[in-house]
Parts: sequence; C-alpha cells; structure tokens
Amino acid sequence: MAHLIAPSLLSADFLNLQKSMDQLNASQADWLHYDVMDGNFVPNISFGLPILQAIRKATTKPIDVHLMITQNDAFIQPFKDAGADILTVHFEACTHLHRTIQAIKQAGMKAGVALNPHTPVSVLKDIIADLDLVLIMSVNPGFGGQKFIPQAIQKVKEAKALILESGSSALIEVDGGVGMSNIKSLVEAGADVLVAGNAVYGAADPVAAANELKNA
Ligand code: DX5
Ligand code: ZN
Repeated sequence: MAHLIAPSLLSADFLNLQKSMDQLNASQADWLHYDVMDGNFVPNISFGLPILQAIRKATTKPIDVHLMITQNDAFIQPFKDAGADILTVHFEACTHLHRTIQAIKQAGMKAGVALNPHTPVSVLKDIIADLDLVLIMSVNPGFGGQKFIPQAIQKVKEAKALILESGSSALIEVDGGVGMSNIKSLVEAGADVLVAGNAVYGAADPVAAANELKNA
C-alpha cells in the first residue's frame, strides 16, 4: 500500500480555515489530521467540536481525530456527530481502554490508540486485534513544529511486527516532526500514515508540500 499523508490542521492559518481546507482538497493528501487538546492531558488547548463541525462541511476526505484529552468516553458520540471518521485516544489517558475502543467502533468510527514517546509498543499486545490504527507519537504531544524523536523509527518496526504476528489489520500512523528528511525511513520501517503539520501548512506552498510527501 502506498503511504497516506494526513496534514494536521493545528499548523493551518486559523484566520483562513477555508483556504487551508481548499489547499487540502487540491492536494494528493489522503486524510485531515485534527488535534484536540484539553489543557489537562497536554499543556495546551487547541480546538474541539464546533470547529470540526464546520470543517467537516469543507472536505470529503476522512477526518482523523487525535484526542489528547483526559475524559475520552464522554466525547466519543459527540465527535462522531461532529464528523470524525477515525477517533484515536491516548493509551496513557484510558483506564478501561478495551471498553473505550469498543465504544468508538460501536459509534461507527475507526478506532486508534496513540502512544507517547515513553510508552512501549508492547502494551498494545492484548488490544492490537481490535485496533484500526496505532499512532506512534514522535514528539511529546501538545504542540506542532517540534523536533522528531528518532526512537520512533524503532517503535514503528515493533508495531509492524506486533501487527503481523497478531493478524491485526491496524495501520501505523506517525505524528510529530515528520517531513522530507525522515519520511522515507518511516515508510521503510512500516509506517502507513504520516501526519504532517508544519511540513505542510508551514510551507510556502502547502499543496506542493503535501504532494511531495505523498510521492516521497
Ligand atoms: C502534536 C500533534 C501533532 C502536530 C504535528 O501534539 O499531535 O499532530 O500537529 O505537527 P508537526 O508535524 O508540525 O510536528
Ligand atoms: Zn496529532
């Protein structure tokens, strides 16, 4: 499978979201990555349901929602209703992860689990068969434009091995500091979906930047 590109709205121009969505639609990018932060799980606050509802009307591409929040269960149905296609929760935030994953799927979305840089891939052993997506964080979550943590490449390889040995059909997504300098190594290691915030929306020509990543 050719790798997928998911530009992150976190790096878009918030005064010109229509323009950012037009650029996404004009590009070969596959998904839109939508980062939700609550100021509690991570030391930043981004955007939530009303903005998702608005941007849902501006694209037919799948919207990949990355929840960086403490209270996940209460927000599953609201994010479905606002237009999420894929809903990813953090391993570190979910005490009853199995229940949360089942609830996401019952609501009609693909279910993902994100791992912070310090969390080993092995914690997913007993849940991997239920997952549609494993999100390897290659920065500490909370901010766009941070430096890529190279250990993420080894974690992608471990996630790939776990998926193959379990027969899971989960995709591997990498999020944080992804760009032209590391995309090839990540894809070679087994990454299926690459999130790119600064590398797309921070570029002079976001459409060209997304296409370059797609064709890397
Ligand atoms: C960080 C977010 C990322 C962020 C990536 O907490 O989860 O999705 O937008 O931005 P870049 O690609 O600029 O590191
Ligand atoms: Zn993200």
